[in-house]
Amino acid sequence: MALTKIWEKRAKVVIRGMRIDDLPEVFHLGESLFTRDFLPLLYRTWDEYEVTSLFSNNSELCLVAERSGKIVGFAMGTTVEKAGSPWKYGYLVWLGVEKAYQNRGIGKKLYREMERRMLKLGARMIITDTDESNEPAISFFEKMGFSKARGHLWLSKTLKRRQREKKGGEGEGEVRGVGSGGSEKTERGEEK
Ligand SMILES: CC(C)(COP(=O)(O)OP(=O)(O)OC[C@H]1O[C@@H](n2cnc3c(N)ncnc32)[C@H](O)[C@@H]1OP(=O)(O)O)[C@@H](O)C(=O)NCCC(=O)NCCS
Repeated sequence: MALTKIWEKRAKVVIRGMRIDDLPEVFHLGESLFTRDFLPLLYRTWDEYEVTSLFSNNSELCLVAERSGKIVGFAMGTTVEKAGSPWKYGYLVWLGVEKAYQNRGIGKKLYREMERRMLKLGARMIITDTDESNEPAISFFEKMGFSKARGHLWLSKTLKRRQREKKGGEGEGEVRGVGSGGSEKTERGEEK
């Protein structure tokens, strides 16, 4: 076996905090995982804003898995506090491992470091979510000790071209708003 191949096989995966220079690589790795065909819902919510806002608001809960200088995985999370509740929740928002490196324990390493950090920040429970058809991820989360999966319906409504033009091109953002409970309107803006 060529020396480079041996070196490549033995190269260690390091889990470390995400840095600003990692953001483009993380974004593109996410694009290769959250694809329209495989994970259509995650595909719609994975964008540059998602990555940069989680990083700027919760950098201590943004991790990468690095192997020989290349990012092969990432995890991004946040914490949630409710007024009047003593509980603090850790929310694992995104987790991904490059396809060629899956099933080698990298997701587990990322998750464990995330859990350690959330615990340190005072979280008493960790929540996460994924597409109900994403069986590999569901199996993974079960292995990590998650249970009590509950259904959550994601609604969407495709806006007609004339509605979009009237709204001045708010487009995709409107679709998400409707999905989370917005009311349907006629083209003149009246509630239906
Ligand atoms: C989910 C994901 C992060 C798992 O990462 P990974 O590095 O492949 O997982 P690991 O190798 O660390 O596996 C950890 C455990 O989960 C189990 N697991 C991982 N993938 C699995 C699969 N496809 N089917 C069944 N079990 C699986 C492993 O068997 C392992 O169990 P063990 O601890 O008993 O050995 C990876 O499959 C991925 O990136 N998927 C696409 C993106 C995605 O769906 N992200 C989650 C929603 S945001």
